Amino acid sequence: MSTRPFHPDLLKQIAAEHGTPVFVYDETTVKTRIDDLARCLTGIPARLLYAMKANHCPPLLNVMRSAGLGIDAVSPGELDLCLRLGFDPANILYSANNMTDEEMHHAVKAGVAMNIGELSRLERLGQMYNGSDVCIRINPQIGAGHHAHVVTGGDKSKFGIPIEQMDRVREIAAAHDLRIIGLHQHIGSGILRTDVLWDAATVILETARTLPDLRFVNVGGGLGVPYRDDEAPLDLETFESTIVASIRQFVDSHPSADLEIRFEPGRYFTAESGVLLSRVNTIKSTGKRTFAGLDTGMGHLLRPALYNAWHTICNLSRPDAPPETYDVVGNICESADFFARDRDIPKLSEGDIVAILDTGAYGMSLSSTYNMRPLPAEVWIHGDGTVELIRPRQTASGFVTAYLSAYGRH
Ligand SMILES: Cc1ncc(COP(=O)(O)O)c(C=O)c1O
Repeated sequence: MSTRPFHPDLLKQIAAEHGTPVFVYDETTVKTRIDDLARCLTGIPARLLYAMKANHCPPLLNVMRSAGLGIDAVSPGELDLCLRLGFDPANILYSANNMTDEEMHHAVKAGVAMNIGELSRLERLGQMYNGSDVCIRINPQIGAGHHAHVVTGGDKSKFGIPIEQMDRVREIAAAHDLRIIGLHQHIGSGILRTDVLWDAATVILETARTLPDLRFVNVGGGLGVPYRDDEAPLDLETFESTIVASIRQFVDSHPSADLEIRFEPGRYFTAESGVLLSRVNTIKSTGKRTFAGLDTGMGHLLRPALYNAWHTICNLSRPDAPPETYDVVGNICESADFFARDRDIPKLSEGDIVAILDTGAYGMSLSSTYNMRPLPAEVWIHGDGTVELIRPRQTASGFVTAYLSAYGRH
């Protein structure tokens, strides 16, 4: 079984040296994904933003900044982190959901573009910052994604201003001298179908034609990656010949002279660059099922519990052993704490090291210390192959000390 893009010997070496659980990230894979997408956008005035919620470890953000990417930030914490790492405020879009006045003041002070997805927030921006520039997040009434929880367009979605309310947007903007300089949508996550992305792009481009002051149109992220071996990757050739071709025509006919077309993927850039290494603590057979219990859990990788998501799991210690069927589970006191059910994996023994693939996006960034389990370590494989421990594993005692001190107790 392939441990793409990592060499299994390197993973075993990292597990031996740094222990488990540990997330490992590969810089070269991130850069390759950036190049793949950038290549199919040649000929249009494109700017790539990185949706940092996918993974915000500093070395990764530094790769994004060095490659010239901007940022999609959705909270004051994300905003402050990317500013401290040197991202240019001009290339940051602040897209907080259910934004408070305090957050709005913070983002205005930071000089970043505000992406507004509620009429009432637009009204408040106008009242407090009359005459300012604004980006509008629309809901194009098209949504998609690998699971219902990640669909962010359509009539069940809390995100964006429904496209039918654009007249009201214009009225509010006119009443407060707001200049609509950006138009944004993001319809969901983990999308492998180019036809849905194209349908949604058509809606935003139609709307953008009617807004002469636009400086950018942001068609969002959502580009999927294949998690299963039988899934086909996003067809970038079709992406280019449909979506990018329509954008090219649109840009040529738009009155704004220096219009930028923005994309803001998270998963596409980082998912395949990460792996979570863990050790098998327990093999338990009930007669009906065999459980392989790991030294990690849903606190470190929530996607299976939250989205029923599939991650390929490889036995690094005995890759050639005959397969057996397992429920691979974690160490958290929840029955939702699983990584795979009924999965055929080369026979596992206690002490074996497993690799959970494609965990570079929405892995560590979704992690928690539920059950008071400390966070895993993180290791970065540089472009030249050198391996660096970028975040040591939290120790239980360090974790408890920090916890008590948050309550003023020592
Ligand atoms: C506004 C916005 N943009 C971009 C993204 C990134 O999505 P993905 O990782 O699927 O590209 C998200 C994810 O939730 C989002 O909410």
